[in-house]
Amino acid sequence: MSDYLNDVIKGLKAKDKYLLSRYFYDDIGDGLFQEIMTLDEYYLSRAEKEIFENHAEAICAEFPQQAFRMAELGAGDGTKTRFLLQAALEAKLDFHYHPIDISANVLDILSANLKKWVPELKTEGLAQEYFEALRGLAKMEGKPLVVLFLGSNIGNFRRDNVDVFMAELSNSLRPGDLFLLGVDKKKDPNRILAAYNDSRGVTAAFNFNSLRRINRELGGSFDLSKFKFYNSYDPHSGESRSFLISLVKQDVYIEAAKQSFHFEAHEAIHTETSRKYGSADLKDLAQKHGFKIRTEFTDSENLYRDQIWEKL
Ligand code: AVJ
Repeated sequence: MSDYLNDVIKGLKAKDKYLLSRYFYDDIGDGLFQEIMTLDEYYLSRAEKEIFENHAEAICAEFPQQAFRMAELGAGDGTKTRFLLQAALEAKLDFHYHPIDISANVLDILSANLKKWVPELKTEGLAQEYFEALRGLAKMEGKPLVVLFLGSNIGNFRRDNVDVFMAELSNSLRPGDLFLLGVDKKKDPNRILAAYNDSRGVTAAFNFNSLRRINRELGGSFDLSKFKFYNSYDPHSGESRSFLISLVKQDVYIEAAKQSFHFEAHEAIHTETSRKYGSADLKDLAQKHGFKIRTEFTDSENLYRDQIWEKL
């Protein structure tokens, strides 16, 4: 049985139903996320781009001035990192760039983009699990590592999972290695609610893609008109949480699972967490996992930040 099918069955059998947001990103989901990044309400990508445009030099000054390796977790199509890479080359830094993604296909698209945008860049993608790849890089030779985790991707971890991720990251690094973390700030809840429930319904369609994908790939029979999209924000935990809510009592058959899944009226499927971090949240996280926060950069509207952490 595929991991995907397994995860779908597990999520839909759970007491509080869920579908993992990592499965948003098939071809259709990738396209919808591209569209989200152009929305007025979705400020995150623009804010990070502005930080890299305005502070690239200062960020590069924090990087090792001797030869090093730069690894990126979840590089996507390279649009997030492009400016930073260009600035690092202009600053004459001596580094190899290693995007890490489990999908060789994603890495092929990325390396084609980078060849166009930053032809001088020494790129070597690693089609491996994040930490397996990082441990391999750490072992290669004495060169320091700079690990990028941008785009507020860390927000997708729920509170209990972020510690698992950070512990693994910390274990994969050596003292003096750097971690560049791009993460959305806690802010006016209404601004966050608008970002995750935009007026054109692109984010809703992005979430609905998790049902469409089950229909396409697993022979699901979800009737999308029998669900509605709902998003909430909790200012204490910083969690924006998205749901698809069954409008009626219904049973949905999934061919590949050879079974039906029951929904009560108003029963919710959790589809995504996008957690926001305050300064104190980040301080706690860094300290707990053996890092020191060296410096941070923010955008002109104070919405988003990129921090540089040093592994102690
Ligand atoms: C790519 C995971 C950072 O959580 O903000 C955008 C995905 N979800 N709109 C985010 C997303 C809804 C995005 N990340």
